[in-house]
Parts: sequence; structure tokens; C-alpha cells
Amino acid sequence: FTAALTALTLSVSASAVAAACDDGEVVIKFSHVTNTDRHPKGIAASMLQDRVNTEMNGKACMEVFPNSTLYNDDQVLEALLQGDVQMAAPSLSKFEQFTKQFRIFDLPFMFKNIDAVDAFQNSDTGQAMKESMTRRGLLGLAFWHNGMKQMSANVPLNSPSDADGLKFRVQNSDVLKAQMAALGGSPQPMAFSEVYGALQTGVVDGQENTWSNIYGQKFFEVQDGITETNHGIIDYMVVVGVDWWDALDADVRDQLASIVTEVTTIRNAESTAVNNEAKAAIVEAGGVVRQLDEAQRAEWVATMKPVWEQFKDDVGQENIDAAQAINA
Ligand code: LMR
Repeated sequence: FTAALTALTLSVSASAVAAACDDGEVVIKFSHVTNTDRHPKGIAASMLQDRVNTEMNGKACMEVFPNSTLYNDDQVLEALLQGDVQMAAPSLSKFEQFTKQFRIFDLPFMFKNIDAVDAFQNSDTGQAMKESMTRRGLLGLAFWHNGMKQMSANVPLNSPSDADGLKFRVQNSDVLKAQMAALGGSPQPMAFSEVYGALQTGVVDGQENTWSNIYGQKFFEVQDGITETNHGIIDYMVVVGVDWWDALDADVRDQLASIVTEVTTIRNAESTAVNNEAKAAIVEAGGVVRQLDEAQRAEWVATMKPVWEQFKDDVGQENIDAAQAINA
């Protein structure tokens, strides 16, 4: 009887989520791939859901599906264009199939920190990028920050030569494949949800990600350690389908846009703090964090940065120059 009651309670609470939308409300399904706590995207998406459901009650209703429970990043943009979900926030690396301009965000050592990324995104060039895929049916509403990427493997990574011959999971991006090849590694594109298992079983030896992702997916449990390389970034674009967006009533669209903007400002200001908390939680859970001294860091820069040359025509030398001017 208890089991039956538990099953009933579970099914009632599962349908309560689905039933939370009333007739006549615009349903906004938001699918993403990360955890919800100690994660910049997870927290921002939950805050967006709460605010939409409170402030737009009667007009709109948002349901967030985290942890790749609905789609992974390779599927979600297709699902968005099909109208199966209405909002997503894939990492910027996932947009390269739509526009090569976004490759600038994947180039190693392009941005010294997330403040530099923020300044670049808020420039005219960065803001225009939100509308660079409208012909392909996608509109960016906002950039959301995660943080700086770190490298981990099943052996200690101190010098870039330690990565030689290792298999690294990468997001499906030509820049990231070239970056791992520059290290002498073998890049293995893979969905985020599969990385823990692949590290655990030795399908891959290592990976790169932010503290919040390494913490949220528990990668540190199945790696020798994490080296604080800060060699790249993971950031997101909140996207909707152009057709869906244009078909919304103007008041719904305007209110949703302003809530997205407010949540963006509030949560982006906290992204570095959230990653620092995740880093501390990794150490507390027994994960090993390795630091590079200045000479070691210079070696990583010298090994990875030549990748820029391969992609400078895709991203535009003027954009590289603008990003570097922000770093200065
Ligand atoms: C990854 O695939 O490693 C990340 O883009 C996941 C995420 O959304 O942070």
C-alpha cells in the first residue's frame, strides 16, 4: 500500500508540474543540460521560471527541464525550431553550426576572465551576435555566464606535454577539437550527459569544463585531479525560435523580454562567485585541484594559442583585436 501511495504521490507531483499551466497561458518549455544548484545556468533558469510564473500568471507559464532530462544540446536547437520547446540556453560552442563568428568564444586564452567576456558581449559586435542567426530561425535574447574552463585527466596535468596522447572529451566544436590536437591529445566530441560515464570507463581520459560543471557532474570523482588553467570560457545564449517569438502578443513578448534581461543582470553578476563555491565544494569532497606556476602557465599558452591562426578568418581579426583590447 505504501509503495502504491508513493507511486501515486510521485505521479501526482509529476503531473502537477505539467498541469501548472492554465488554459490560455503561453507555455514556455525551457530545456537545458546542467544541474540546478551551485550552477550559474541552473540557478538563472530556476529564477526565470519562478519570476515568469509569478509575474506573468494568467499570461504565460514556464516549465524548466534541467539535467538533459528532455534534450541534449545537439538536439535542443532542432527541437526549438520544431516548436517542441520554446527556450534553451546552450553553450556558445553549440552555435558554430549556425555561424562561425561564435568561434571567437572557444579560442583558448582569448578572454582573461568573465568580465572581459561580458564587456565583449555588451559591445555592438557582441550584441549583434544575438541576431546573427535569425535567418536560420534562432533569436538570442541574452548571454548568460558560466565561467572559466579548467582541464582534468586521469593523470596529473602540469605541463601541456602531460596531455600528449590522451583522449579528451570536447563539445562538438572545430575550435575545441583543434585546441586538443594542439596539445597532442585526441578530441572526442560527446554530449554533456555522457561525459561522466566515459571518464569512469576510460572511453576518454580527460575533459575541460568550468568548476560548476565539474562539480555538478562529479567529474572530479573519476579524474586524477583538475588543473586550474583558466584557458577558455563556457558561456551561454538564451535562445528562442524567431517564428514563436514574433507570434507572441506584444505585451507578453515585452514582459518576458524584460524579465529575461533582469534575471540576466542579477545572475551574471554572481556567476564567478557560484563557480568559486563549486570549486570549494570539489575540494571539500576530496577532489584534487592543481595550480600552475607562471612558467607552466606560459607553456600552456604557447601550446594552445597558435590555434587562433586557423580560425582568424572565421571570427575576424578586428574581433580578435577588440577582445584583446578589452583584456588589456
Ligand atoms: C558542455 O557540454 O560541456 C557544457 O556546454 C554544458 C553546459 O551547458 O554548461
